[in-house]
Amino acid sequence: MRLDVVTIFPEYLEPLNVSLVGKARARGQLDVRVHDLRGWTHDRHNTVDDTPYGGGPGMVMKPEPWGEALDSIMASGEAEGLVKPTLIVPTPSGRPFTQALAVELAERPWLVFAPARYEGIDRRVIEEYGERLEVHEVSIGDYVLAGGEAAVLVITEAVARLLPGVLGNAESHRDDSFAPGTMADLLEGPVYTKPPEWRGRPIPEVLISGHHGKVARWRRDEAFRRTSENRPDLIERCDPATLDKHDRAL
Ligand code: ADE
Repeated sequence: MRLDVVTIFPEYLEPLNVSLVGKARARGQLDVRVHDLRGWTHDRHNTVDDTPYGGGPGMVMKPEPWGEALDSIMASGEAEGLVKPTLIVPTPSGRPFTQALAVELAERPWLVFAPARYEGIDRRVIEEYGERLEVHEVSIGDYVLAGGEAAVLVITEAVARLLPGVLGNAESHRDDSFAPGTMADLLEGPVYTKPPEWRGRPIPEVLISGHHGKVARWRRDEAFRRTSENRPDLIERCDPATLDKHDRAL
C-alpha cells in the first residue's frame, strides 16, 4: 500500500518510522511519503493560509497549494502505475472513523492524507477532488485537535495493522474490540500473563482450568460486562440476535 501525507509539519509524522508502521515500511509492505505543503507555494513567505471570507476567527488554508500538491502526487502515483488514490481529510466535522472504515481503507492500494491546520482547508478543494476521487472526511473523535496530523497517525496505524503480513499473528485481529466475528459489538475483555500471582492477586482460575468452553464463556461474560460499563451505547445499538441468554442474565 502506498500512503502520501501532505502537511506543513512533516516532522510531526516521524512516528511513522517507528514500531508496527516503521517495520511494515522497512519490509516494503507500506510505501509512505511525507510531503511539505509549503513546497507548493510560490511566494517569499511560503504562505498556506489566509483570512476567512465572511469574517470570523482563525485562518483558512488556501486552495492553490493543496491543488498543486494533490495534482503532483496523483501524477507521480500514476507514473508508477497506480490508478487513483483515496483521499482522506481528517476533520472534527467528518464522519466518525471506525474499525469498519479502517477495514475498508485497508483494501485500497493508495491513500493520500490531507491534514489541515487552522480552521480547515478551503471547501473548494474537497469539492474539486470529490468529483475526481473517493474522498472521506473523517473525525477520530468528538474533540478538537490543533491539526489533522495526529489523526493521520491514528488512522494509519489502524489501517496498517490490518494489511496482510503486517501483524505477526493474523489471529490477533479476531477478538479486537469492534472486529466483526464472534464477539460482535462487544469490547475486548481483560487479559493476563505470567506470573500466576502478582502482589497477592491471582489470575482468574478458569484461565488455567484447561476447559476451552468455560474459558470462552468467561471471556464472553467479561467482554459483555466491560461493554455494559464503559459503552452502554454499544449494547443499546447491538443486534439482539448477537446477545445470548447468558448476556441478558448478567
Ligand atoms: N482535526 C482536528 N480535530 C480532529 C478530529 N477530532 N479528528 C480528525 N481530525 C481533526
